[in-house]
Amino acid sequence: MNATSKRKIVFAAKTLSVILTASVFLWQFGFTPMAAVIHQDKPAEQNPPKKLDPAAWGGNHAGQPVPEFVHGDECLFCHRNTIGSTWQNNAHGVTVRHREDAPELRAVLKDQVKLNAFAEQIEYFLGSRHRVRFLKKEGYGKFTILNTQAVLNAEHKAERWEAADKPVWDREKFANNCAGCHTTGVDPQTKAFSGFGLDCYTCHGEVDLDHSNDTSKVLLSKKRRNDARVITSLCAQCHLRESKSRSTGLPYPNNFVAGDNLFQDLVVDWARANDARLNPGDRHIWRNVRDVVVNGDESLTCLNCHQVHANTSIRHRRILRTPICSECHAADSFKNPKPYTVQSALCEY
Ligand code: HEC
Ligand code: HEC
Ligand code: HEC
Ligand code: HEC
Ligand code: HEC
Ligand code: HEC
Repeated sequence: MNATSKRKIVFAAKTLSVILTASVFLWQFGFTPMAAVIHQDKPAEQNPPKKLDPAAWGGNHAGQPVPEFVHGDECLFCHRNTIGSTWQNNAHGVTVRHREDAPELRAVLKDQVKLNAFAEQIEYFLGSRHRVRFLKKEGYGKFTILNTQAVLNAEHKAERWEAADKPVWDREKFANNCAGCHTTGVDPQTKAFSGFGLDCYTCHGEVDLDHSNDTSKVLLSKKRRNDARVITSLCAQCHLRESKSRSTGLPYPNNFVAGDNLFQDLVVDWARANDARLNPGDRHIWRNVRDVVVNGDESLTCLNCHQVHANTSIRHRRILRTPICSECHAADSFKNPKPYTVQSALCEY
């Protein structure tokens, strides 16, 4: 059963009215042209609104081999002008970079004398907006991660360091705790990734190359970005941090393929959506995901507010006020949004 039917959309053929004139009964059976009437449950105070089962629709690829997917280089061969021009600066594309491609982070590393002995070994950087971590390759699809991290300021210079006094490589951590959201195509058995950074596949899924004639064949095209549950699942695969895969116990999804239902294998603590201690940056994500997948409110998804390739949330200003706005704005004004710092025990910052 799909959520549409669950939301109790009542298709009502209504008998509109019986009109009485002086001597004639005029019967009018009208099938209202837009017959979808949203029946909003107004339950008694003691009955909370009926919750959906988030796992009820669609399928998943948990435990299966990573599908063969078309790599970003190939996509960008055709999409270089529109997408390629901004992709080099997109936080997703550059979440892991080879040192040769990150001169500003090489400079950060060079300034830290305590890492002199490690500087030659460090081959990759993780992060770049607020934090940087240091990686080296450890066999096929594996990274070793250094415990040291730099905290960056707005100019991308190190304003402070953590664990710089005793740098140590950790061989297991990246595969067990990080790979699923900072690399692409992680094999659930070996935990090896097929590419570092986030490739087009993570959001667009398996792409049929015939899509150039019919764009409805590709997920997130203009013709195929209206399924709120699909969109929410695919963004939430990485953005609901601190959840666990039921099948692997790891803190990232088991072989999620965009288009899947994330919640068939991900165990999520929905109470976090109400946790007042969480900062607005994280809480609005939890709240939006919960509203869509548990409460069945499909009126807003990430994409109403965020444009991934244009890398902006400017569109959010045009939405009518709804409760989610209060995560970041005072009840009576949109000026001066509440300041916040995003935090995550999982990502170690
Ligand atoms: C469940 C997915 C997930 C896992 C697992 C994960 N991360 Fe993250 N990480 C994210 C997301 C999403 C963000 C961006 C959050 C934001 O800015 O709101 C992020 C951001 C970061 C950042 C900040 C980048 C910046 O400059 O702002 C660092 C550093 C980071 N992660 C390191 C790690 C490390 C190290 C691990 C493993 C120990 C890890 N992450 C595991 C999803 C994950
Ligand atoms: C983090 C998720 C994500 C990744 C990774 C991603 N995309 Fe997208 N893509 C989107 C979303 C969401 C949209 C819908 C419009 C938007 O938000 O920019 C989109 C839209 C598009 C469009 C249609 C643009 C339009 O005019 O509407 C193209 C083409 C595209 N992506 C190509 C790519 C290519 C090529 C890559 C890899 C280099 C890629 N995408 C990686 C999320 C992603
Ligand atoms: C052989 C060339 C080619 C390759 C390779 C290719 N595309 Fe496309 N793609 C096109 C053409 C042509 C269109 C239709 C015109 C347009 O919108 O750019 C299109 C349209 C799209 C759209 C929808 C744009 C819209 O207007 O709605 C998306 C999303 C997209 N491609 C993503 C990808 C992704 C992701 C990959 C790699 C997995 C990829 N494409 C590989 C040629 C290609
Ligand atoms: C495969 C994991 C993954 C997926 C899927 C994903 N994200 Fe992200 N997202 C990240 C990570 C990791 C970062 C932070 C990267 C960094 O700073 O190194 C991030 C950063 C962001 C940011 C902050 C960008 C900035 O420059 O400040 C936004 C906004 C965002 N993601 C929205 C989305 C939306 C919307 C979707 C769904 C269309 C999505 N993401 C899908 C992992 C993911
Ligand atoms: C009602 C609009 C709205 C919705 C819905 C929404 N966001 Fe946001 N989000 C914002 C605004 C506004 C910001 C703050 C401005 C900015 O950073 O661009 C933000 C910030 C973020 C950040 C950046 C945190 C940081 O500072 O590193 C991430 C990541 C993010 N959103 C992801 C998501 C994801 C994933 C979804 C869907 C599950 C989502 N958002 C739903 C409006 C929204
Ligand atoms: C995650 C935090 C976040 C959420 C949720 C959020 N906003 Fe914002 N909003 C911001 C930030 C940050 C700014 C300033 C920068 C910008 O525009 O991205 C802002 C700016 C605005 C502005 C421009 C204010 C001015 O000074 O001109 C308007 C209007 C606005 N938001 C409306 C909304 C509405 C309506 C909603 C709910 C649908 C909402 N916001 C939800 C963070 C948020």
